[in-house]
Parts: sequence; structure tokens; C-alpha cells
Amino acid sequence: MPRALVATAEASPNIALVKYWGNRDDLLRLPSNGSISMTLGGLRTVARVAFDPAATVDTLLIDGKVAPPAARQRVAKHLDLVRAAAGHHLKARIDSSSNFPSGAGIASSASAFAAITMASAAACGLPLESAALSRLARRGSGSACRSVWGGFVEWLAGDEDESSYAIPLAPGEHWPLIDLVAVVSQAPKSIGSTEGHQRAASSPLQPARVADTPRRLSACRLALLERDFAALSEVVELDSLMMHAVMMTSSPALVYWQPSTLTVMNAVTEWRRQGHEVCATVDAGPNVHCLCAPGQASAIRPKLQDLPGVDLVFECPPGEAARLVQD
Ligand code: PMV
Repeated sequence: MPRALVATAEASPNIALVKYWGNRDDLLRLPSNGSISMTLGGLRTVARVAFDPAATVDTLLIDGKVAPPAARQRVAKHLDLVRAAAGHHLKARIDSSSNFPSGAGIASSASAFAAITMASAAACGLPLESAALSRLARRGSGSACRSVWGGFVEWLAGDEDESSYAIPLAPGEHWPLIDLVAVVSQAPKSIGSTEGHQRAASSPLQPARVADTPRRLSACRLALLERDFAALSEVVELDSLMMHAVMMTSSPALVYWQPSTLTVMNAVTEWRRQGHEVCATVDAGPNVHCLCAPGQASAIRPKLQDLPGVDLVFECPPGEAARLVQD
């Protein structure tokens, strides 16, 4: 009996500073616009993939429990791409575990698909360098292509499969910002981002958001390069509001915010007015990512924890690239 092909990889989620919302091609996950993110240290998904000659179906465990059929099918479809590249038809057992709540706007699909892609490619002996790995991860979940890298990362939108992948912009040491993730809900969101991306084109605001993206990308790159927190705050908050404006004006409307989301956003504005270097951004969920300049997090964290509706706070420095770990 041939042996199973096994590998394990670990990846961190990321927070988008300039966000990806909407696809030009849903099947290939070619984004409507480029995006920039920071990989989040301290949060991780570990995925073990075992292609087994004895297996007759793909099985997926998430945090030790059998995954819902839709999640299993999505991962199985992703592994079909890996199998096609490797030239075999072996079914796999995938064990994926994260140290943070999945599906609640902390990009668990980004870390999961980055880790699953790296582990499955390694298990099959595919000699993938980072750009190829990033392209493949993109097919599972767009933002996963950025989690292949650590530190500050840009996803080049590209215009076909070959040209749409992420590149590193700067290592985390360049600017050790802290993302304080204010978790106001740990419940999985009712509408996932795959469906959200499909709704984006129905918003009359999406063309304006997409057209303005090159300007926001340049502003964000420059703010990161020059470590200019005021400039970063301006572009990060504008970009988040523009994406949520598109979501809220899609048909049907998508409103990810909860009352506590707004409580945190308003508090961050007030703290900045008082002189703290902190700004807020929200992904496809109700939780608020509060980015702090170096040295600011120790003052902001207790204030955040005291706000009504904030269940817990994760503290994330810039994180590492996806990596293989010993099985
Ligand atoms: O990668 P997806 O399909 O989960 O989409 C991510 C969308 C946002 O998190 C809202 C923005 C982004 O760029 O990460």
C-alpha cells in the first residue's frame, strides 16, 4: 500500500488597510481592486493535510469537529487545483485549527486557505515559490494570497490568473504597529464574504470606490514607507468606510456592523482627538481592528476592554509569513 502524502503548515490572518471587495472574476477570484494588509502575529491556523490512498472522500475537521458540508466542499474544490497540479487523484484528510474565532471578521479563511495551500502543495512535493503559492491560495479565499507573506503586504490585482498575487511591501520590523482587535461578537457571520463579493457590483458606489483605489493604495504605501501615522489613519479609516458604504448600498444590503461596532469606532475617534495615535478599520464582520502606533497599545487596550459590548481584545503585532511546521 503506498504511504499517505502528509504535511503541516501554519499561517496567520491579516487585516486589510486598503480593502479588497468585489471580484472581476468570481471563479478565479480576480479582485476588482488591489489591496494592502498587515499580517497578524499571535493569531494562527495550523493545517495538516494528508492525501491518503485509502481515503474515498475528502474530510475536513475544523478545531477538531467535522466541518459543515459547504466548508468541506469549498476545501475539496481547492484541493482539486492542487491535485491537478500534482497529477494525482488522492483524497485527503484535512485538520485545521485556529487559536481565534472563525467566521467573525478576523479573516479565518485567509489563514486557513494559506495554511491548507502550503501544506497540500508540500505534501504533494510541488515546488511552489511564494508568488505561485500566493496565486494558488487566492483561489481558495482572495485575502489568503496576502497571508502567504509576513509584515506589510500588497496584493497586485492583476488582470488574469498569472498576474494576481501578493508581494511583500515591508517587514514587520519596519514599523511595529499593534492591531488591537476588539471582539464584539464571536458568532459566525450570516453572509460570508464570497457572497458579499458577488453583491458588490449591485452598489452604485462600487465603481467610484474601485476608481479611487489607486490613489488610496499610493497613500497607504507612502504612509507605511514614511511611518506617517496621521496619513495612515486617514487612508485606513476612509477605505474601511468606503467598503462598508458599498456593502450597505448593495442589493440586498449587507450591514455587518452592530451597535458595539459604532461604540468602538466613536471611542477611537475621541481617543485620537485626545492625542493617541490609533485608528479603526472593520472587515466583513462586526469586530473593530484598532491600529496603534508603536508605544500606544498599552494605553488603548484597557480603555477598549472597558467599553460596553467589547467581549475580548486580541493584541497583534505584525506577523510572520506562512511556514511549514514539523508534522
Ligand atoms: O478573502 P475574502 O473572500 O474572505 O474577502 C476578504 C474581504 C475583506 O476582509 C472584507 C477585505 C480584505 O481585503 O481582506
